Amino acid sequence: MTETLFTNISQLVAASPGAQRGAAMRNLTLVSDAALLVAEGRIVWVGPRAEAPGTEQEHDLGGVAVVPGLVDPHTHAVWAGDRLADFEARVQGVPYEEILARGGGIRRSMQATGAASVDELVALARPRLAALHASGATTIEVKSGYGLDFAAELRMLEAVRTLQTEFQLQPTLLIHVPPTEHRAEYVQGVCHDLIPRVAREGLAAAVDVFCEKEAFTVEESRAILEAAMAAGLRTKLHADQFHAIGGTELACELGALSVDHLEASGPAQIAALAAANTVATIMPGVTLHLGLPAAPGRALIDAGAAVAIGTDLNPGSSPVFSAQLALALAVRLCRLTPAEALTACTVNAAAALGLSDRGALAPGQRADFLTLHSHDWRDLPYTLGTNPVRDVWVGGQLVTWPGVHP
Ligand code: NIG
Ligand code: FE
Repeated sequence: MTETLFTNISQLVAASPGAQRGAAMRNLTLVSDAALLVAEGRIVWVGPRAEAPGTEQEHDLGGVAVVPGLVDPHTHAVWAGDRLADFEARVQGVPYEEILARGGGIRRSMQATGAASVDELVALARPRLAALHASGATTIEVKSGYGLDFAAELRMLEAVRTLQTEFQLQPTLLIHVPPTEHRAEYVQGVCHDLIPRVAREGLAAAVDVFCEKEAFTVEESRAILEAAMAAGLRTKLHADQFHAIGGTELACELGALSVDHLEASGPAQIAALAAANTVATIMPGVTLHLGLPAAPGRALIDAGAAVAIGTDLNPGSSPVFSAQLALALAVRLCRLTPAEALTACTVNAAAALGLSDRGALAPGQRADFLTLHSHDWRDLPYTLGTNPVRDVWVGGQLVTWPGVHP
């Protein structure tokens, strides 16, 4: 067994494995002058350098801080075309929902994505994933959802499958916006044809639905998520982005892995999340890009919920290609402390994907970790506009992307 002892770590943030809720999100374990022992892609030992076990192979990390690899639990990284005209209209005052209702927005991305081949989708998504990776995201969730029809949804998931050979990805089938005609038949087809096929072919780990006035109702969302559960897939929900129409309550009732967005959540939704195991995923890039209210991150943690942070990387509501920036924005816009934000981007984001083997630098966990350009880990939440991440290690291996400079 090849063991490597990583040394010369000014400060290591260990954190505890598994989802952390409420005040426990602030409990980080910091080790000064630390060392990290890795074998076969897993962490074997973590502690002060002076107490490290002897090994044949040592790797000097240069006196900088080490944090767990970030997990981005919510992206729409596969799309074709652009939304630059929507962006111009929006900054001049046309609301996102109105653009969608007029047939633009997500529907515009569906036209371009539906016309693209798997190879084209792979080529478009690769640099986006590489950028997320360089920003510290060692595991990334990727949704479908811009398919005009089922064949296009499957092409998106096939693109994710191809990219899984290059990145640690978790694929999700997203049922995003309903067709303008034959809506009931579409939902039936999703439940009886698309979901069973995706489950059979192992193309997704979870199913997500956009539950919103301009998208699917609570009843439609329930039918789709119940079909997902019957097919053995996990569930997630986009809810309370613009209106709290009952999506969060549905996700909590069904034991969904996560409910994501929550910008319009009020006391009832916060209470539901505080009482459930469902992770509350907030995405401050949407707040910044759409200029809308922030999700109540502070209130969710104070109520005892488990909060995660995602980039929501997508062409319409969050062109945020950095997991580190999402972390940094959550501190400013959603009032998380730096420690809470790190927990939200690591173990809690992993829990939002149903994963408990990553996100903490503790024995038995995957050896996914980041070195920073700084000796103090707090430069990770502090930095805006340049990348504080120096190197990205996945399963104990240094991974770099040509053309992507941290
Ligand atoms: O998470 N709101 C729904 N879906 C995405 C936006 C996708 C898009 O605008 O293309 C989101 O914000
Ligand atoms: Fe989203």
